[in-house]
Amino acid sequence: RYRDPAAEEKMNPFAEQEAWEEHQIGKATLKFGSKDKKQKHDNYEFVFEDQIEFIKAAVMDGVNVEQESSKQSPEASLAKTAFEKLQSDRKTLPIYSYREELLKAINEHQVLVIVGETGSGKTTQIPQYLHEAGYTERGKIGCTQPRRVAAMSVAARVSQEMGVKLGHEVGYSIRFEDCTSEKTILKYMTDGMLLREFLGEPDLASYSVVMVDEAHERTLSTDILFGLVKDIARFRPDLKLLISSATLDAEKFSDYFDSAPIFKIPGRRFPVEIHYTKAPEADYLDAAIVTALQIHVTQPPGDGDILVFLTGQEEIETAEETLKHRTRGLGTKIAELLICPIYANLPTELQAKIFEPTPEGARKVVLATNIAETSLTIDGIKYVIDPGFSKMKSYNPRTGMESLLVTPISKASANQRAGRSGRTGPGKCFRLYTAYNYYNDLDDNTVPEIQRTNLAHVVLALKSLGINDLLNFDFMDPPPSEALLKALELLYALSALNKHGELTKVGRRMAEFPLDPMLSKMIVASDKYQCSDEVISIAAMLSIGNSIFYRPKDKQVHADNARLNFHMGNVGDHIALLKVYSSWKETNFSTQWCYENYIQVRSMKRARDIRDQLEGLLERVEIELTSNANDLDVIKKAITSGFFPHSAKLQKNGSYRTVKHPQTVHIHPSSGLAQLLPRWVIYHELVLTTKEYMRQVTELKPEWLVEIAPHYYQLKDVEDLASKKMPRGEGRAVKD
Ligand code: CDP
Ligand code: MG
Repeated sequence: RYRDPAAEEKMNPFAEQEAWEEHQIGKATLKFGSKDKKQKHDNYEFVFEDQIEFIKAAVMDGVNVEQESSKQSPEASLAKTAFEKLQSDRKTLPIYSYREELLKAINEHQVLVIVGETGSGKTTQIPQYLHEAGYTERGKIGCTQPRRVAAMSVAARVSQEMGVKLGHEVGYSIRFEDCTSEKTILKYMTDGMLLREFLGEPDLASYSVVMVDEAHERTLSTDILFGLVKDIARFRPDLKLLISSATLDAEKFSDYFDSAPIFKIPGRRFPVEIHYTKAPEADYLDAAIVTALQIHVTQPPGDGDILVFLTGQEEIETAEETLKHRTRGLGTKIAELLICPIYANLPTELQAKIFEPTPEGARKVVLATNIAETSLTIDGIKYVIDPGFSKMKSYNPRTGMESLLVTPISKASANQRAGRSGRTGPGKCFRLYTAYNYYNDLDDNTVPEIQRTNLAHVVLALKSLGINDLLNFDFMDPPPSEALLKALELLYALSALNKHGELTKVGRRMAEFPLDPMLSKMIVASDKYQCSDEVISIAAMLSIGNSIFYRPKDKQVHADNARLNFHMGNVGDHIALLKVYSSWKETNFSTQWCYENYIQVRSMKRARDIRDQLEGLLERVEIELTSNANDLDVIKKAITSGFFPHSAKLQKNGSYRTVKHPQTVHIHPSSGLAQLLPRWVIYHELVLTTKEYMRQVTELKPEWLVEIAPHYYQLKDVEDLASKKMPRGEGRAVKD
């Protein structure tokens, strides 16, 4: 069941749409797809079949729902100012009736576990209650979130509720973006950022309360924070510690925190009807889109919004395009459908859209990653569509390989998802899998991230906090010792640790960068090669992920040509990214230039911000900003200094084999080297879609591996046996 439908769809992007166009140009009847398609979709035609007549009537009559919205009275909405409305809304939240009891419990206990359903008001209200009760006189209140989007949006909401400017009394801090000031007393931040704050302030002296929120998500950083806050709570009796969670398995948190009391906030829950498909779905993305459309056209628009859980940005963008395309075909025959995507990298200015009330006569469909499972509450959702997948990190400690896989969710997740539909009234949840799948195939709970991830980054952080004995660290669920050893091994290979497992000077410098150790090492190594200027641009571009190039469906050829320009001379993907950045900089960061080159200007601006911060950090670790733009080899050597463990060698059949811990991999089709197939490459990361792909690939001279990492590679590793067996003249020489 592991697959990446978005990637597959990209390979044949038009097939689906054509079927639709054909069908919509025809008569104004509303069925979903052609006859064949109908058959294919039979098993999720469970939606309101009895209402097909209604749709037909609506389509024929051209019911114009927009007229309805003119009934809104402007006087009524102005009666209360927005601020007053917010204040009265606060009082309607389930948590409000427990305000005094909660404050009393916090006063009496140093550590409190708080459990309440998503939307009950934990994240937005508890810090405000504590502020109102005077806790901020003794220090800041910090509240951690596993996701950056949640930290930002919650901080924005709370600043509105308090009537202050975001970034003043209420602020947020996420990686590469600090929106706080001297004034900030309520600080929302990602769990990873609080972890970093320990590096500068090991006792968190400036905080009076730390709330580890969304604890049930059990992200890697949250799990590490548990151990650290538990430790400082012992010698800081004045510090209040709140562990809050949306699920009921709070006993485990209580046990871990020395039997801390559990405070339960009873939620309001409405019944949720669960529907399953009759047979497993071949294409859940398509099934999700069709189901959303079916709901939209069959149900009256004022009735409630739709929330669709998808696995990532690409999938969400595909769904958004398809939905737009299909609703456009229906024109004014159906009510307006507002499509609201939400995922981690969504630009801030677009995030607010999902929280705006749906205009009368329209319906909102929110396309979300599992961020909407518990981190964010969107009011007005009545229908949830759950394909049953999420993108999960998986890590193989044996090979040290990490990949993001589209993986079936757990029962706990499925139940959280379903619950999103029953918050404000009875809801419906459409699971695009069978009841049998649910009961027999899904795990009960999601495995905590600490047990399925590369630990190098946190091990480096813990080492720089002086925590040396990691095997005896107080983990709630310990990571596999194999994974810990692997992390130590990698850090040793990167020269961040010495033979005794102690932090080296290189390691100390690396720890200053909020980046994966391999990226930090690449930056630290750029000092030696006198090319830090170029290398931080590359690091910033790599940190953006794969949202730099824009490829509109109707202009793919143009977009691809524009992209290939940056690959001229087969420089490899890293240098191509550098070229994109430098060219943009040469145009004085022109937006027009981005449009012309099919580059997402927003991603570029973010890269520029990240780059600026990396430049600041260079200064902190006393690395001079030096440029060596014309010597691509030294830039590649700096990259290799961080990424030498990610080397791979071409095989006769055109696939690659990783050098250490041999595994078959391929160059991702989006790479500039995908056709060229150099003999030796290093890659930035592996992604598993239909195959195990290397993303961001650069050609490498194998002797660099021995030169740069003699402790890791021996000559025999890089001896090119394959070429020796080949007849003379074939293949390229190893040492050119
Ligand atoms: O943390 P918990 O899930 O218990 O609830 P919360 O995030 O504090 O949300 C309480 C309410 O605040 C939600 O039901 C929303 O009505 C509102 N809210 C919002 O409008 N915009 C946000 N960004 C966050 C919350
Ligand atoms: Mg919350």
